[in-house]
Amino acid sequence: MKILFLNGPNLNLLGQRQPDIYGKTTLAEIEERVRSRAKELGAAVDFRQSNHEGELVTWIQQAKGQFDAIVLNPAGYTYTSVAMRDAISAVELPAIEIHLSNVHAREEFRKNTIIAAVCCGQISGFGAESYILGLHAALSIKLK
Ligand code: DQA
Repeated sequence: MKILFLNGPNLNLLGQRQPDIYGKTTLAEIEERVRSRAKELGAAVDFRQSNHEGELVTWIQQAKGQFDAIVLNPAGYTYTSVAMRDAISAVELPAIEIHLSNVHAREEFRKNTIIAAVCCGQISGFGAESYILGLHAALSIKLK
């Protein structure tokens, strides 16, 4: 089982970016935790971050035939990226939307994800643990 983790804009700043909302864990530390848990579970992961919508779209397109599932934190693109949504629909891979913060308990606009509808489900509000839950969700989908 190969899982592609994608991270959208500003997530490279985790650890220093609004730690009261996003926590103090860096993206590199989250990646390390995901890799370690994936190893225990016998899964392979690729973990990427980009501030560029087109790069994220290209990575989603290239995932077809290379990965079994995508776990993505689209960050700010959650609310704007029709292109990422269309790419997820196009590749027909199971996708799981994850967020560190509980997007439903914040500003109104953060509830309006346009990505979630083309995902199997959404995990939101568990901090860095959302990534581990995303990993488990990806693995359980394949066992269905
Ligand atoms: C986020 C939530 C989004 O609303 C925000 O734009 C982010 C991070 C999260 O992980 O909590 O950049 O996706």
